[in-house]
Amino acid sequence: MKNELKLIYEQAFNKKDDLQYFFSPGRVNLIGEHTDYNGGHVFPSTISLGTYGVASRRTDQMIRCYSANYPELGYIEFQLNNLEFNENHEWVNYVKGVILQFIKRGYVFEAGFDLAIKGNIPGGGLSSSASLELLICVMFESLYGFDIKRLEMVKLSRAVENEYIGVNCGIMDQFIIGMGKKDHAILLDTNTLQYKHVKLDLEDYIILIGNTNKKRTLADSKYNERFNECQTALKLMQSVVDINSLGELTIEAFETHKHVLTDDVLFRRARHAVYENQRTLKSFEALENGDLLSFGQFMNDSHESLKDDYEVSCLELDTMVDSMRQQTGVIGSRMTGAGFGGCTVSLVKKANVEQIIDAVSHDYLKKIGYAGDFHIVEIGDGACKL
Ligand code: GLA
Repeated sequence: MKNELKLIYEQAFNKKDDLQYFFSPGRVNLIGEHTDYNGGHVFPSTISLGTYGVASRRTDQMIRCYSANYPELGYIEFQLNNLEFNENHEWVNYVKGVILQFIKRGYVFEAGFDLAIKGNIPGGGLSSSASLELLICVMFESLYGFDIKRLEMVKLSRAVENEYIGVNCGIMDQFIIGMGKKDHAILLDTNTLQYKHVKLDLEDYIILIGNTNKKRTLADSKYNERFNECQTALKLMQSVVDINSLGELTIEAFETHKHVLTDDVLFRRARHAVYENQRTLKSFEALENGDLLSFGQFMNDSHESLKDDYEVSCLELDTMVDSMRQQTGVIGSRMTGAGFGGCTVSLVKKANVEQIIDAVSHDYLKKIGYAGDFHIVEIGDGACKL
């Protein structure tokens, strides 16, 4: 990969430099969806697909960024003293957002840099934006010798989304990409940020990602609308029970106090947040007990709740999930990530995986009119220098 990156860099900028190389993974969430901005639990892992970067420091104030995924954009350049969001700068806005967050924390950039990236994260839903944010963080750590803790990188990257891009996301994606460990998922309590690395022992099963190829971006999706609905539901709940987030509610407490949610939409949004959080904890227990069948059933239940109560699924996701569930050897299937398009995650028997992919591909193409694609998950380390 390094040779390929070197070539991309040299062609993009037409010069040879002393180069540094970086990688930052994407993520798949096994369960615990739309719980992270509600103070609940999540259970994601990294995936081996991600974003590669190659960079070198400049001596002036200029920054130039090139992506091999968007060669038609050429390189995009700007000065260190002009970090305003610019729609025409596309993905490079994330780079600017990260720089601003470092500056906000007192780090000083004495000079700019040239950066070329190449990503292989398919479609939406596997967190290509958080992957990019953490890539830039580890790059700055090395290129400028910044002394920064992982958790600070994670928080800072989330702040880029919340304050600069305008997506009110939770901390899940940045957390797993920053803190991920080979062959481990992370069970994270987003309320306290306490977490456990959990070695994934799936016996004869593997995790299969299905990409619907239905595109969307969080900025134009109803993501922020869901965030706001949950905030409103929380305020109503707080009139009867002493909590700081919906994630603090047990199912019993929710059932006792749900009468304050007289609006049906708010009621269903909150019900999802509370039940999904509890389901995530139960799924973790099932996994610890080697009960994969229950884990799969919780995945199925999660999808139904996201579809009916939270209303973030879509025809493409539902079609793929339904088709998955009809295949022998599939014990659980759900949408993963924010929804509205993007990817599914399924727990499937290793021995059947090819048949399963064939059958679901065929089914999906026939019903939706364009193809989906499939990836077997391998879990690697979090963002790093290569
Ligand atoms: C996106 C956000 C995350 C999380 C998921 C849904 O990936 O970035 O913070 O809310 O959606 O679980």
